Amino acid sequence: MLFYIAGKGLEILYQNSVVGAAHDAEQRFPPPNCYPGTRTETLEILRNWVNDSTKTASIYWLYGAAGVGKSAIAQTVSEEFANSHLAASFFFSRADPTRNNLQHFFTTVSLQMATSHVLGPILSEYVDLTVRRERNIVHAKLERQFQELVAKPCHRLTAEQWNNLPQLIVIDGLDECIDIASQERLLSIIREAKSGSMVPFKFLICSRPEPRIRNAFNHQVFVPWWLAVTWAKHLNLGMTLPGTSARNSIEFDKSMAIIWCMYLKIGLAKELYNYLYRGHAASLFMQLLS
Ligand SMILES: Nc1ncnc2c1ncn2[C@@H]1O[C@H](COP(=O)(O)OP(=O)(O)O)[C@@H](O)[C@H]1O
Ligand SMILES: [Mg+2]
Repeated sequence: MLFYIAGKGLEILYQNSVVGAAHDAEQRFPPPNCYPGTRTETLEILRNWVNDSTKTASIYWLYGAAGVGKSAIAQTVSEEFANSHLAASFFFSRADPTRNNLQHFFTTVSLQMATSHVLGPILSEYVDLTVRRERNIVHAKLERQFQELVAKPCHRLTAEQWNNLPQLIVIDGLDECIDIASQERLLSIIREAKSGSMVPFKFLICSRPEPRIRNAFNHQVFVPWWLAVTWAKHLNLGMTLPGTSARNSIEFDKSMAIIWCMYLKIGLAKELYNYLYRGHAASLFMQLLS
């Protein structure tokens, strides 16, 4: 029988992880989130995909322009499955030096799994031992880190056993990993892992459709599912436009209104200012959407 062990190995892993990358990290508070009743169609597609235990595509690429709501969707999905299917989440952020590169990506994923409620008791001892045996693994090249800290621990269980365990890994904002070669490298590691059935995971990857990310997804043996996030189509905002009392709703009104104005290239700068600072962002939305 395995017991959760908070050993020296996990401590080293912790020191080399990004605690602010997880969906529930305080550092990201308040995270973008889908207001209830919005993005219903997209969320339903993703929910069905996560819940589907048959051999469907194991990689979903959710892409769309900046500000369109990808992170909000990634957050909502992560939260919904936090106590069931979620194995790990990593939210990249261009502005955060700990989250705009791959340096601690696999150590973070490994630590999240090794300390999670369900996977922890299964994986922690093995991961702890791996790091204790080879402390430098946390500085090894990413391909080896992936093998030792993520893939090999998973081999402790059979595919059938994995069917009932958390298998979802959410990776948000891959384009915010500033080194473009790293974006391709991460996708290449995931691609090889999946095509060689090295890991049982499903990956939800959200990013802008940058040419090199798009190219990487076009790889022959890599058949992800693609879902485009568009501006107004799936939002159903006319039905559910939030009031401006809750903090998130204010954020939502302001940031979305600004971005949408930029996107639509409409000359509403002055009106926008008035609307936002008189607290009437909601009616601006109505105008934009009508
Ligand atoms: N469905 C939604 N409900 C409420 N707020 C949303 C929704 N989609 C996006 N937002 C808000 O719009 C802003 C931009 O969304 P975000 O998810 O960060 O976009 P992206 O990740 O595509 O760049 C954020 O402040 C976010 O909270
Ligand atoms: Mg984002």
